[in-house]
Amino acid sequence: MKQSDLVPYAGREQGFVKHQLLSAYLQRFVMILGQHCPRIVYVDAFAGPWESATDDYRDTSFGQAVRIMRACQEQLEEKLHKRVRFDALFIEKSPAAFAKLEVFVANEKGPEFNISAWHDDFQNCVTRIADFIGSDFAFVLIDPLGWKGIISPSALAPLLKKRRVEVLINYMWKFLSMAVGHQHEAAQLSNLKEIFGEGLAEAPLAGDPDRECWLLNLYRKRLVESSVASGAERTRSVSFPVQYPGSTTSKYFLVHVTHHDLGVIKFAEASEKAHETQQSVRFCVIQQRREKKTGNGDLFSDQDAPSEAGQEALEQPWLELLPVAGCEMCIGQPEMAEMIERNNCFIGELQRGLLNLQKQGVIVNLDMKRARSKNGVNFDKTERLKRLV
Ligand SMILES: C[S@@+](CC[C@H](N)C(=O)[O-])C[C@H]1O[C@@H](n2cnc3c(N)ncnc32)[C@H](O)[C@@H]1O
Repeated sequence: MKQSDLVPYAGREQGFVKHQLLSAYLQRFVMILGQHCPRIVYVDAFAGPWESATDDYRDTSFGQAVRIMRACQEQLEEKLHKRVRFDALFIEKSPAAFAKLEVFVANEKGPEFNISAWHDDFQNCVTRIADFIGSDFAFVLIDPLGWKGIISPSALAPLLKKRRVEVLINYMWKFLSMAVGHQHEAAQLSNLKEIFGEGLAEAPLAGDPDRECWLLNLYRKRLVESSVASGAERTRSVSFPVQYPGSTTSKYFLVHVTHHDLGVIKFAEASEKAHETQQSVRFCVIQQRREKKTGNGDLFSDQDAPSEAGQEALEQPWLELLPVAGCEMCIGQPEMAEMIERNNCFIGELQRGLLNLQKQGVIVNLDMKRARSKNGVNFDKTERLKRLV
């Protein structure tokens, strides 16, 4: 990351992290599917532009998505001789923002890259979006300003139920946490039940450190339940926390819903990269604030050290998978996707935990010819693990 990349995001640096994750995952999504599918659809259901500070909208989600899809289209054609048709659909409710969006669309659209813009309210057109996608593969971004009546599993069901549609939802914890604090008000409770269902009543009390994670997991579970809830090919969901600029407190979570193991794995890989970016952004913001305050950019404090979050070595998931000595199991993409989803974690955290257990002689990789420094299991090749003690 270059410091100059952050300039258009001054004061809203969390947007940079969001766009990095979106771009990194979209690139993987398109390059994988583009090898097999003649048409790929991308929908930005709350397109903006919102607080953009550039002429070419490179600091917006739709600007980023068009850049990525164009680059992928070229690569697919040049390197793999695959011609993929892209259909992008941007929806925006505000007349002022839509006027700008229309100009962008008019300049960018072409015969192999069709872009449509609808001046509409997302809630009015969910079914129409589903029809627009048809039976093709699609990625849908739901990035509203609020949450009421928008991100509930029932409102999103027409999209969630489509087996070829992946959805990325901004779960605006900043506002949801406040609403949860006011659930004694009847209107608030009814809105919240749309999101969390009756399970809300069981949530940890205010002040409990588990509350944020517990409610997020309940929401993820409900999204899956409104799609394909069980079976080997059930829908899966993972999330990524986006923090307030210069802080480690979560502002919102990007919740990813996919129907494929590879979707979970690729999102986890992109998330791990976005996590590194988030650490660098946090460091930059703290430095900039200090420079502004003291005029001295060289001062350094412990507060600036990268946080440990996302850097853990998770041993417990492996011990649960292989509960007693003598247990043996093949670890391929489905098993890895299951572990990522269950623990809502990065692949690196699982690999570090496994390496620790291998060093302690608790688990052995039967297919590993020599010691590895990074990956305790190569799940792309489906390797066998055995618990020894
Ligand atoms: C958070 S901004 C989107 C930011 C954009 N995804 C990005 O990252 O650059 C939300 C946008 O949705 C628009 N919006 C709000 N309510 C809407 C609705 N019900 N339907 C469609 N658009 C809406 C707002 O005008 C605003 O431009």
